[in-house]
Amino acid sequence: MRYFVLAFVLLVFVVVSIAGCRGGLSRRPPVELFADMDRQPKLRPQAVNRFFGNGLSSRLPVPGTIARGAPYQDLPLNTGREPGTTNFVTLLPVPLTSGLLARGQERYAIHCAMCHGAAGDGKGLLAKYQMVGMANFHDQRLVAMPDGEIFNTITHGKNLMGAYGATINPQDRWAIIAYLRALQRAHLATVDDVPEPARAGLNK
Ligand code: HEC
Repeated sequence: MRYFVLAFVLLVFVVVSIAGCRGGLSRRPPVELFADMDRQPKLRPQAVNRFFGNGLSSRLPVPGTIARGAPYQDLPLNTGREPGTTNFVTLLPVPLTSGLLARGQERYAIHCAMCHGAAGDGKGLLAKYQMVGMANFHDQRLVAMPDGEIFNTITHGKNLMGAYGATINPQDRWAIIAYLRALQRAHLATVDDVPEPARAGLNK
């Protein structure tokens, strides 16, 4: 009992002396039992930071960033439709260049070929795993389909096909469509499309 009283008095003394120090002024840094996230390895805006090459903590938005609250732009580039209508545009709203085609070929191989096949015939790798019903781009219906409608299919998906609007940006969707058209054109080609000197080498 004597020890308890002694320990109790000691405890009260310690508690009162620690509590009593709160609010006192001192030039020395406070004893920090719990850091309470006082120091954080974060970047402060507009401050120097040597983590990045240019020494700035603030980064520029990535290309294609749309400001929050920016008005939705009803342009064929974004919708695949004539502005203010529900009509699909027939042709690409972006300039057709060899760079666009190359980009489309690359993106097609990444996003579409496993289902629709490298040649666009609907016999991609997944056909080997019993997935069925992938559209064949050489169907007359799809050859005649307006570019805007294909854009719509990529953006929102169709029946069994999922939507790719969230993963493929609009510019790349048009690039894929340009490449898809090249696949269709190549499939429809006849021997007359081959330059005269190269015809002899064809395996007829
Ligand atoms: C997971 C497999 C899969 C992937 C990946 C895929 N598709 Fe499809 N796609 C389908 C299936 C299945 C259909 C048939 C949908 C249906 O039932 O009409 C289809 C249909 C289509 C159609 C025809 C739509 C119509 O109106 O009949 C187009 C065009 C098309 N896909 C383009 C693309 C393009 C371009 C990509 C790449 C960005 C792509 N697809 C990626 C499975 C896929």
